[in-house]
Amino acid sequence: MKIIVTESYEEMSKVAAGIFAEEIIDDSRIVLGLATGSTPIGTYKELVRKHLEEGLDFSQVTTFNLDEYVGIDAGDPNSYRFFMNENLFDHVNIDKGNTHVPDGMTDNPHEYGKEYDEMIEKAGGIRIQLLGIGSNGHIAFNEPDEELPVGTGLVSLTRQTIEDNARFFQSVDHVPTQAISMGMGSIMKAERIVILASGEGKAEIIGKLVEGGKVTTRIPASFLLLHPDVTLVCDKEAYSLVGR
Ligand code: F6R
Repeated sequence: MKIIVTESYEEMSKVAAGIFAEEIIDDSRIVLGLATGSTPIGTYKELVRKHLEEGLDFSQVTTFNLDEYVGIDAGDPNSYRFFMNENLFDHVNIDKGNTHVPDGMTDNPHEYGKEYDEMIEKAGGIRIQLLGIGSNGHIAFNEPDEELPVGTGLVSLTRQTIEDNARFFQSVDHVPTQAISMGMGSIMKAERIVILASGEGKAEIIGKLVEGGKVTTRIPASFLLLHPDVTLVCDKEAYSLVGR
């Protein structure tokens, strides 16, 4: 795993956006894997700036998002579709028909998950995947457990994730308890992966990930250690417990 430690959240966001922009310039028909959450907001802001000020062209770009809450429809301000429109898609020249966020309202998550993975394959596979990391080591909504899902499908959120994400909702009781999430195999198929981490709240898990040197289903992000092209971009707060 390649590691880039930055001085600040802003620098982390610029480095990540720079990596994505280079890939888009290199292949205008690229397929991107995208994440939501607090961490990538600065990266999307910088990509929007690059579009507006430098002409970064999204017109041929295809995207697939990692996950969506179950029971929340696309128009809900807490939906990940809403988040993506608001933070990126509404501000660049992307064809929304080429953007995909799992459907949290599907009545057959298993079948739907298979179709989502097939859609990714049909589009040619993900060239570069953006990830955040949960404080418990989850990637997408693949939570620490005895087993991890390979393909996209229905997952249950842990208490810790529900509490971590309560800040976006009226109260912890309003946080959905399930999601449609890309599986570990779906993520690991991406040719290149960039994982972001920011702030002290991620220091413990980044310490474990970087120093662990082992794969465990108790830290889903540890599977990234098996991938040939992963870059961790994190600020110095998130990196502060490495080597301690
Ligand atoms: C989001 C996702 C999650 C987040 C993770 C970190 O699509 O799949 O794995 O990346 O929960 O969230 P933040 O960035 O809010 O700390």
